[in-house]
Amino acid sequence: MADRVHLPITDELGVRDDVREEVRDEPAVLGLDDPWRDRAPRPDRAVSCIMADSLYVKANGEMPCWCDSGEDLILETLSVEQLMDPAFDVFNHPRIQQIRAAFHDEDRYPFPDVCRRCAMVDPDAPRNRSRYRSHIDTLHVESSWLCNLDCPLCIPRAERKRLKDPPFHVEPSLWIALVHNLKMHGVQSVRMLHFEGRGDPLMHPHLGHLAKVFHLSYPDAIIQATTNGNFPFRDDLFEGGLTHLRISADGAREESYQRYRRGGKLAKVLRFMRDAVECRARLGLEDRVHIEWKYILFEWCDSDEEMLEAYGLARDLGVELSFCLTPWDGKSARFDSESLAAKLEELMPLAQNRPTRHIELGLDKPAAEAASGLP
Ligand SMILES: C[S@@+](CC[C@H](N)C(=O)[O-])C[C@H]1O[C@@H](n2cnc3c(N)ncnc32)[C@H](O)[C@@H]1O
Ligand code: SF4
Repeated sequence: MADRVHLPITDELGVRDDVREEVRDEPAVLGLDDPWRDRAPRPDRAVSCIMADSLYVKANGEMPCWCDSGEDLILETLSVEQLMDPAFDVFNHPRIQQIRAAFHDEDRYPFPDVCRRCAMVDPDAPRNRSRYRSHIDTLHVESSWLCNLDCPLCIPRAERKRLKDPPFHVEPSLWIALVHNLKMHGVQSVRMLHFEGRGDPLMHPHLGHLAKVFHLSYPDAIIQATTNGNFPFRDDLFEGGLTHLRISADGAREESYQRYRRGGKLAKVLRFMRDAVECRARLGLEDRVHIEWKYILFEWCDSDEEMLEAYGLARDLGVELSFCLTPWDGKSARFDSESLAAKLEELMPLAQNRPTRHIELGLDKPAAEAASGLP
């Protein structure tokens, strides 16, 4: 599954005045004109969207239409009572069935004004006319709406509690009821549970517990958390069954790192990574747990020298490094997808690092594959 970028935030959530200009151009960057225009309908392929096979649940129980332009389209607000009701099937919710039918049966957008601006639309997906599903691709969960940092393109930290109703962390009872609902209604497998959303998942006081409840029900699922890593590392994450810890840290030098990750400290993040690697070894989980440093190349942290420093740090720590591009304010002026792939080919032998990955707006491939154009 491709990795997606879901910033910047929308006006309704309060875009900061200092980034408003750049955000205004967003639909032109992400917009799909009309994915049906130049193609004859094919019985086996359809325009689709991640929401046809996935769910996104926010910290306060809201279930929006994914975390891109659909973030403000709340399909349902979940409660424990509803999830425990045998008549309520969350994954085959009537509004999700409508999304499936629109894309897979009726060849149209379910919400034209919103879908047209959404990065989650896939113009060439396998067609599945059934309105019912029993396999979840991605269960995306915003375990916490709060964050300890104040990155300029994200929700302003001081505004968070004003912009959303509590609870600000997923309630354990809601979580247990959600997993119960999936089991009760025959969801056989979940490819990935991803703790991310628009806050920092590690702000949740019991993230390891949430992971464990899920892992006991779906032991084969990938369980991923994406965090800024400005926390003391807690063993209960790996004990709870987390398989992929992804740490967003954009820069190999304190000064460039703090330019975007306001309120954070690179030294703290590196310590977090080191403790995570140490815990993984102590628990004998090297084959199961993947620790990834996600480095967004902004114009102030994209020099060869700093990228090589990051490779050096990643090698010493024993984590995998992924360089990513952003289409928004501060984006690297040096790289597009192709030139980054070429640069990584050039730098990797110098860095003697393990293989790195290259992620950009839906592109999530090992660098060698990206460079060779292989699928
Ligand atoms: C809102 S963050 C929440 C998770 C966590 N707090 C973090 O920062 O990784 C969700 C995702 O957006 C990414 N992100 C943050 N700022 C970005 C930017 N300016 N451009 C592209 N992606 C960005 C983060 O790296 C993360 O993968
Ligand atoms: S660390 Fe993540 S959630 Fe926090 S402000 Fe930055 S991008 Fe937003």
